[in-house]
Amino acid sequence: MAKEPVRVLVTGAAGQIGYALVPMIARGVMLGADQPVILHMLDIPPAAEALNGVNMELVDAAFPLLKGVVATTDVVEACTGVNIAIMVGGFPRKEGMERKDVMSKNVSIYKSQASALEKHAAANCKVLVVANPANTNALILKEFAPSIPEKNITCLTRLDHNRALGQVSERLNVQVSDVKNVIIWGNHSSTQYPDVSHATVKTPSGEKPVPALVADDAWLKGEFITTVQQRGAAIIKARKQSSALSAASSACDHIRDWVLGTPEGTWVSMGVYSDGSYNVPAGLIYSFPITCRNGEWTIVKGLSIDDFSRKKLDLTAEELTEEKALAYSCLA
Ligand code: NAD
Ligand code: LMR
Repeated sequence: MAKEPVRVLVTGAAGQIGYALVPMIARGVMLGADQPVILHMLDIPPAAEALNGVNMELVDAAFPLLKGVVATTDVVEACTGVNIAIMVGGFPRKEGMERKDVMSKNVSIYKSQASALEKHAAANCKVLVVANPANTNALILKEFAPSIPEKNITCLTRLDHNRALGQVSERLNVQVSDVKNVIIWGNHSSTQYPDVSHATVKTPSGEKPVPALVADDAWLKGEFITTVQQRGAAIIKARKQSSALSAASSACDHIRDWVLGTPEGTWVSMGVYSDGSYNVPAGLIYSFPITCRNGEWTIVKGLSIDDFSRKKLDLTAEELTEEKALAYSCLA
């Protein structure tokens, strides 16, 4: 029997991530090739004509799984009945801007959209915040939508996770699909800590630890970390626009694994509400190693954290604590 359509909201749908993301969703990349979808696309009035153009292209692409489109500049109409909300709308970082510069523009958007989601989305709606500052926007959304369970509000660090997999695969000249269990700790910013202490590569003679295969501590503790931390800025420098296809693809990975589950023995990175695990202050949206089953995520517990890692985990937590205070001062 055919499945009921799932309603997926994409905010900022007329923007460049939106343009890459909506066809992926309509093709089943996010929820599976047997899952019909109804797309809700929100943008602001100055982008209404461009949004209409995206809607026309969705018609022209004749996606078999796409059972309907709501394209609107009305936030209530956009949020009504949605099962999944991908929050991409906002003001992007431009070349030369620090992420904090975009803070005040974006947290007020997330405060107001929190209430619309709380009042009008379907019960148990899963929320993924992509727009920067992603962790802090997600935290503001959570705080101003108190009736949405905190487990339902997450932010995107899967792009950073995938970037780390890509860097290891390039360095070792192995298939990216054979590398697993990197971790992104903390903020989706240049203080994030990409950690390969527990990562492995599948080889003909079994799974081998990444640190042993790389055998270059200086690279792992230096260039590898800064390359992943600075990758967003490097893409902006090269494209004069922030990453879009990789962000859209990673957003699909995030939701797919959350809804359909992570493969056995594999974890991913997701920004989630901290419960104090790994001595990360509770009450931040912080990226942890995560497994997912039956539509629920769980933080992977009990991984060893050495002194080097401890400092990095604390540094990015400190930045998130500062961002939280700054966000509240912007809203005051
Ligand atoms: P973009 O400027 O191309 O698109 C943003 C869209 O949001 C625009 O169409 C704009 O009109 C719309 N918008 C603005 N305010 C809105 C509102 N109140 N409601 C609905 N829509 C609104 O930007 P982009 O390149 O698509 O990036 C979107 C966001 O994603 C940026 O904040 C960017 O920094 C962030 N980003 C995050 C990651 C990540 O890994 N977390 C990666 C890449 C980009
Ligand atoms: C990215 O990681 O590509 C984006 O978050 C862009 C940015 O602002 O760093």
